[in-house]
Amino acid sequence: MHTSPWPLTAARTDTGVLTIGGIPVTDLAAEHGTPLWVVDEQDLRARCQAYRDAFPGVDVAYASKAWCTVGLLQIAVEEGLWVDVASGGELYTANVAGVPMDQVVFHGNAKSDDELRLAAELGVGRVVADSMDELERLNRLGGELGHPFDIWLRITPGIDAHTHEFVRTGQDDSKFGFTLSLGLADEAFAAALAMDHVVVRGIHAHIGSQIFGTDPFIANAEVLIGLLARWRDEHGVVLAEVNLGGGMGIVYTHEDHPVAIKRYGDAVLSAVDEACERHALPRPRLAIEPGRAIVAPSTITLYRVEGIKRLPGIRTYVAVDGGMSDNIRPALYDAEHEVALASRTGDDEVMACTVVGKHCESGDLVRERAALPADLVVGDLLAVAATGAYTASMASNYNRLPRPAAVLVRDGQVRPLMRREQYEDLVARDIPLS
Ligand code: LLP
Repeated sequence: MHTSPWPLTAARTDTGVLTIGGIPVTDLAAEHGTPLWVVDEQDLRARCQAYRDAFPGVDVAYASKAWCTVGLLQIAVEEGLWVDVASGGELYTANVAGVPMDQVVFHGNAKSDDELRLAAELGVGRVVADSMDELERLNRLGGELGHPFDIWLRITPGIDAHTHEFVRTGQDDSKFGFTLSLGLADEAFAAALAMDHVVVRGIHAHIGSQIFGTDPFIANAEVLIGLLARWRDEHGVVLAEVNLGGGMGIVYTHEDHPVAIKRYGDAVLSAVDEACERHALPRPRLAIEPGRAIVAPSTITLYRVEGIKRLPGIRTYVAVDGGMSDNIRPALYDAEHEVALASRTGDDEVMACTVVGKHCESGDLVRERAALPADLVVGDLLAVAATGAYTASMASNYNRLPRPAAVLVRDGQVRPLMRREQYEDLVARDIPLS
C-alpha cells in the first residue's frame, strides 16, 4: 500500500491538472460543481482487499459511520466485507444497499427500543451490548419478539491509545462498554448467561481511532483472549467470537507514518494465536471493523478558491467554497489534511497560507498550515486529501450550505454516489407557520 495521502490513481496531466481514475478534476468540477467528493474506486477496492488479505479467515466489517451511503456499502459487500452500523439510520441504509443482514454488526451506547426492534425484524447478525440497561432491554425485547438476540459484549479493556481524546474509547473513563477493571464486564457476562432471550456469542473492544503503532492493538487482543480464558475457568463457557474493533491510522499528511495493513494484520493475529496458546484456547472466530482506513484515503474533496486575503506580516488567507459543513475534522480535532493546487501547474515559489472555509466562524479551517503556489488565483481548484472518512458522514447544513455531491471514478468513468443538495432540500423539512 502506498504511503502518499493521495488516492492510488492520482496523477497529473502535462499541464498539471490532477486526475483521479483517469479523469481530470477540472472536468469533474465543470460537470458536477464544487465542493465535490471524488472517490477513487480502485483505491477503495484495493483497501478492502488489502484488509481481507492481511486478515485471512477474519470477518472484516466496514465501519459505516466513516461514510454511510448506499453505493459505498454496495462496494463493501461486493468486496466481501461485513458492515458495522451504529444507529437505526445506518442500519436502514445498509438494508437499502442490500447488505446481507447476517453480516451486520449493530453498535451504539444508547440504542432505542425502536432501533433494536428494527434490528430484530431485519435479522441483524450481531448486536453489541454496551451497558447493563441495554442487556435488560435486549432480554425483554427478545422475549416480546419471541426471538433471542445474538450478542457480543462490548468490553472497555483499560487501554489508553495515544490519539485525540475525542476518538479514544478503550480507557476506563469512557461512555462505551463494560469496564473490565471495575468488574462491569464480569457482572454483564454473569447476568447475560442467566437471561433467556440473549445469546452471548462473543466479546468486542474498540480502543480508539487513528492509532499508528501496533502495540495498543496487541494489548487489546491479549486482554480479550485472557478474558475468554478467565470466563472459561469461572463459568465453564468458551465464547467463540472476538471482535477486535477498528482504529487503524492512515496518512493524512506527509508527516503521518502508520504501519502497513499487512504488518498490522500479522502483529494482531500472532498476538491472538500466542495468547490462545498460552491459555490453551482454540482461536476464536475473529472480526475487525476498520472505517477510516477503508474509505478515507480513496477520496479527495475539490474546492474552488473564492478569495485570497493577504495580511502583510500576519498571514495569507485562502478562502474556498466549502469548509466545516463538509469537513468538520480540522475544527473538531485539529486534524490536518494535505491540500494542493489541482487545476494547473503552479508557480515553483510557495506561499505559506491558511486555507479557510466560507462559514461565519473563525474556526472554519480547511488547513491551518498550508503551502500553496504563490501565483494562486481566484477560480483555481484545490484538492484536499484523504477526506473519505468522517467528512460526508459528519456534514451539516451550517449557514444553510447545501451538502456537496459525491462521485465515484474509475478508468475514465464517473458514477454519481450522492447528488448535491439544492436550496429546495434545505427548506423541505421546514413547516411555515400558517
Ligand atoms: N468500531 C467502533 C465501535 C467505533 O466506534 C469506530 C469508530 C470504528 C469501529 C471505526 O474506527 P476507524 O477504523 O474508522 O478509526 N470522527 C472521528 C473518528 C470517530 C471514530 C468513531 N468510532 C474522526 O474524524 O477522526
